[in-house]
Amino acid sequence: MAPLARSILVTGSNRGIGLELIQQLVKMDEPPEHIFATCRTPTGPRGKALKDLASKHSNVHIIQLEVEDQSSVKAAALAVGSLLHGKGLNLLINNAGVNSYATLETVEQQEMLSAFNTNVVGPILVAKEFLPLLKKAAREAAVKDMSCQRAAIINITSKLASIERGFEVIKAPMYPYRASKAALNMVTVCFALELEEEGILCTVIHPGWVKTDMGTEQAPVTVQNSVRGILNVLVNLSSASNGAFLDWEGNTLTW
Ligand SMILES: NC(=O)c1ccc[n+]([C@@H]2O[C@H](COP(=O)([O-])OP(=O)(O)OC[C@H]3O[C@@H](n4cnc5c(N)ncnc54)[C@H](OP(=O)(O)O)[C@@H]3O)[C@@H](O)[C@H]2O)c1
Repeated sequence: MAPLARSILVTGSNRGIGLELIQQLVKMDEPPEHIFATCRTPTGPRGKALKDLASKHSNVHIIQLEVEDQSSVKAAALAVGSLLHGKGLNLLINNAGVNSYATLETVEQQEMLSAFNTNVVGPILVAKEFLPLLKKAAREAAVKDMSCQRAAIINITSKLASIERGFEVIKAPMYPYRASKAALNMVTVCFALELEEEGILCTVIHPGWVKTDMGTEQAPVTVQNSVRGILNVLVNLSSASNGAFLDWEGNTLTW
């Protein structure tokens, strides 16, 4: 596989798809020089798998980042900036997310707000604080076409957020999750519009229904296959995919 990017940051990388992304990134033929594996609780049992990885790979930097806490996001951006020694950040993957199965009868105000906070406000805060580093990477890239090698923001969404396909998923109202991911999709289109001139590519990717804590054991796709697919899609992104809604196999999904 061609090199993906010199520097990559992943949110929510202590388990599930985020952790597998870090695990596959370090094994690439040409691994990134800097992999910023962020999570909200790096210490203790939740951060153990990441710590084990970082102890074997000097290019993995574990950074505390709680996407809902602006001061945590700001501190993470400062820490990443200093580890990059004046260079920019090429690829930001907003992967952290929460699920919720609420129906109209069970949904609570706090559950809606909480899902929006993590799945929509979080990726906005993270993109905002890392924007100077992404712009730097885009400006200083030798190649001027859009790509993850140059500068990109990838937001991990869900097919369940597709409004056109909304009726295909019967008995799964999941108001907080589906509405917040649909909002994330719109946020990504706005990123794509606003950041196109800066040369920063912005896309949403659906990882498939994946065997993780969130996806459950019932899911048909293994986390290894999902992440292999996602990385394959990322390597091949260009300006043609700016603002696109893709899945882990590279298919374009309907909004
Ligand atoms: N699995 C699927 O079938 C599926 C399908 C479609 C889309 N997705 C999307 O894929 C992404 C990853 O999902 P997954 O299956 O890997 O889920 P997961 O196993 O539940 O992991 C979620 C990750 O997000 C982190 N996280 C949650 N809230 C956070 C916050 N406020 N700040 C920082 N990190 C936070 C968690 O950290 P803690 O350990 O600290 O809780 C964990 O690392 C999510 O955006 C999800 O919506 C998954």
